[in-house]
Amino acid sequence: MALSLLLHLLGLFLVVEPLSVAAQTANISLGSSLTASQGSSTWQSPSGTFAFGFRRIADQDLFLLAIWYDKIPDKTIVWYANGDNPAPKGSKLELTTDGQLTLTGPRSQEIWKPESVLSGRVAYAAMLDTGNFVLANNNADYLWQSFKDLKDTVLPTQVLEIGEKLNSRQTANSYSQGRFQLQLKSDGRLVLYPIALPTEFAYQPYYQSNTSDAVDEMNSGYQLSFNESGYLNVVRRNGNIDKLINKTLLPIRDYYYRATLDSDGFFTQYAHPKSPKNGSWTSWLPVWSIPENICFEANGDLGSGPCGYNSFCRLDANRRPICECLPGFSSLDPNNKLSGCKQNRIQSCDEQGNSKPEDLYVMHELSNTFWPTSSNFEQLQPMNEDDCSRSCLYDCYCMVAVIKEGSCWKKKLPLSHGRQDWNSYGKALIKLPKSDASLDDPLSPQSNTGRKDRKTLILAGALLLGSSVFLNFFFVAAISLVFLYTYQKRHNVTTSTSSIMEANLRSFRYKDLEEATDGFREELGRGAFGTVYKGIISSLSSTNYVAIKKLDKVAQEGEKEFKAEVSAIARTHHKNLVRLLGFCDEGANKLLVYEFMNNGTLASFLFGISRPDWNKRIQIAFGIARGIMYLHEECSTQIIHCDIKPHNILLDDSFTARISDFGLAKLLLSDQTLTHAVIRGTRGYVAPEWFRNVPITAKVDVYSYGVMLLEIICCRRSLEMERENEEEVILTDWVYDCYKEKTLNKLIEDDEEARNDMKRLERLVKVAIWCIQEDPSLRPTMKKVTQMLEGVVDVSLPPCPSPFSSIC
Ligand SMILES: *[C@@H]1O[C@H](CO)[C@@H](O)[C@H](O)[C@H]1NC(C)=O
Ligand SMILES: *[C@@H]1O[C@H](CO)[C@@H](O)[C@H](O)[C@H]1NC(C)=O
Ligand SMILES: *[C@@H]1O[C@H](CO)[C@@H](O)[C@H](O)[C@H]1NC(C)=O
Ligand SMILES: *[C@@H]1O[C@H](CO)[C@@H](O)[C@H](O)[C@H]1NC(C)=O
Ligand SMILES: *[C@@H]1O[C@H](CO)[C@@H](O)[C@H](O)[C@H]1NC(C)=O
Repeated sequence: MALSLLLHLLGLFLVVEPLSVAAQTANISLGSSLTASQGSSTWQSPSGTFAFGFRRIADQDLFLLAIWYDKIPDKTIVWYANGDNPAPKGSKLELTTDGQLTLTGPRSQEIWKPESVLSGRVAYAAMLDTGNFVLANNNADYLWQSFKDLKDTVLPTQVLEIGEKLNSRQTANSYSQGRFQLQLKSDGRLVLYPIALPTEFAYQPYYQSNTSDAVDEMNSGYQLSFNESGYLNVVRRNGNIDKLINKTLLPIRDYYYRATLDSDGFFTQYAHPKSPKNGSWTSWLPVWSIPENICFEANGDLGSGPCGYNSFCRLDANRRPICECLPGFSSLDPNNKLSGCKQNRIQSCDEQGNSKPEDLYVMHELSNTFWPTSSNFEQLQPMNEDDCSRSCLYDCYCMVAVIKEGSCWKKKLPLSHGRQDWNSYGKALIKLPKSDASLDDPLSPQSNTGRKDRKTLILAGALLLGSSVFLNFFFVAAISLVFLYTYQKRHNVTTSTSSIMEANLRSFRYKDLEEATDGFREELGRGAFGTVYKGIISSLSSTNYVAIKKLDKVAQEGEKEFKAEVSAIARTHHKNLVRLLGFCDEGANKLLVYEFMNNGTLASFLFGISRPDWNKRIQIAFGIARGIMYLHEECSTQIIHCDIKPHNILLDDSFTARISDFGLAKLLLSDQTLTHAVIRGTRGYVAPEWFRNVPITAKVDVYSYGVMLLEIICCRRSLEMERENEEEVILTDWVYDCYKEKTLNKLIEDDEEARNDMKRLERLVKVAIWCIQEDPSLRPTMKKVTQMLEGVVDVSLPPCPSPFSSIC
């Protein structure tokens, strides 16, 4: 079988690469050598696609003997010899005159040599255009090939036989063996599983193909083949194939393909255009990957799970795992998120002495987080949350309690298989030493240094209630001047150096988008920035609905800004943000192509006919907070949204909140258009400092978020002029009244679910009141907001949001 395959492959090479002068140059003769140093020479494949040689490891004076894609800017490494044993500078790779390939260090110590070389006399080596580096005899039989020395990547024409496996590397920049393997098992299944390093012990797989047949052995898989058109198939012994990829790929003529077992355990197929598109390169695009949900499919009671002990796993927008430590814990290895976490301060049964547990510890809530079955030492049922919390607090073995559906599970360390899932309402209570818990709490009511600015306050009030057309007109003009002034001052051209090409963005021609939308026929909505249309796009791998936003108000002079903004948007990846897929930039035709969201806007969800579920609403509020926090704190350049409101929050298939329209504010810096955008878009959500001559900071989003949080809680709009009861017209004022008078139940009168959850309701209302503080410096950061929402930190009593108004 192997021989016939070999012949097949050989035949293939002959077809693809007729023996030419170029092919001759790929023949590396005995006696040749390479030296490990910066800019040292390499052995290239005939077409120059692949190179074999030394690559310096980032930030170190160590070298990797590797094969990489040489014609693209990324120079992506597809094979490496000495990942566990990097070579010092001056090391030498030699193809000796007697046909041995050896890598030796500066002191002649052996660093690496190929294993399982077939017997025979090596006549030459060759770097082939498939990415395979071979040692061959005089008959051109391969005595050794890199395709049979599997690392983390497979390439088209490469085959995995039974028993062969890919190993992930440790991290993107560390090439030693990582925690994941992909193997074709002898029963014919392709399985993906973590291993118990430093051994090869395999934990339960989190992906397995359905290609084993216990009854008919001939119907079992025996090869994973990456065929020459770029498709990955499991081939069965009877010749049938099971496609792993369900899509039509773009032609291999125009794209490079590779499939890599990434260090986070994802087996992903990527594509890369072979040439720059209109002068700029794009990077590798993921085409397909397994598993669907690594946080959840990694099952089994034992072992650490995909993220390591004492951490929990959640998915980002690309369904890749994010590993986070529990509060009170930190990463074992800060360079490796998968390493697991250790307790910052070891808690033991000894330390309690005569103190009461309440004096030493607090129980912190972490919503939707759990550790299925593992590490339990007690299950108490039925039990309510308060008892569960107390039971753990008083039990010196208990570090975490999980309460779900009336059951209380008490857990001890280490915790494994942690995960966070917004569709599950289970809640973890984590025991933290008091000293850890009260850290960073800058919010304290006494620091209430409200700025006096009566005039603008009155203006703002007038604007919000806007009864006079004339007044509005006047304010629009005045405010726009102030806004333009402060905004321009703050955001004066700090154009980022990185370009669109770095991000996985597709550049569209206007013509294509016109076609995709059938001549801009189906309008989805209109916003401050232009009109959104529904379209259909055939991407690399599939056909998808998209939302295409036609920007009609981009400043004429904003060409450079447009590119910078688009690339900033493209670099965002978060499960609570709508993803930008591509753009079009042809003169005045500026369009953005986004994922299409099936479930409409939060506005229609909240203010529709029936009231949505309380828990769902809260999940949405949490999600939005995380999304804004990401924009503010986790992007390479901070993005201030400036227009947070329910119309700009979309809901995907699973009703996860996805923020849209972010990163566009700067594009609107042209004359009159701006004013319309701001006033029309944000009436009722806009922070008071917009109307003052003070710097605009990320805190404007916190304010808008606070207003929206109240809308989500109460399921009503921030302004409802038609309310009979005058106090209820302005939601923020009404909420503060109810809060002050301890009548929060009025806010959710006929919402039974919410009424059964008053404790949480009160916490959310307090957080919202903090957010809508008139003084921006009193408002918490979005990070703090998420921590307060989730109960990771306590919420102190909020002061009156607008200290100079009648509501206080
Ligand atoms: C490489 O060299 C060997 C031996 O010198 C020769 O037989 C073979 O044809 C060459 N192969 C290629 C692909 O140039
Ligand atoms: C696996 O494949 C067999 C037939 O090959 C089919 O009957 C069975 O339903 C499949 N199982 C799953 C889980 O897809
Ligand atoms: C590669 O596999 C796909 C199925 O996944 C098949 O449609 C295609 O014909 C194969 N290409 C070649 C060249 O064998
Ligand atoms: C393949 O495509 C079909 C139809 O589009 C879909 O139902 C199925 O779930 C897909 N299978 C995989 C493995 O993605
Ligand atoms: C390609 O680049 C040229 C010059 O930079 C530009 O005029 C043209 O519009 C671009 N075409 C596309 C499709 O981006």
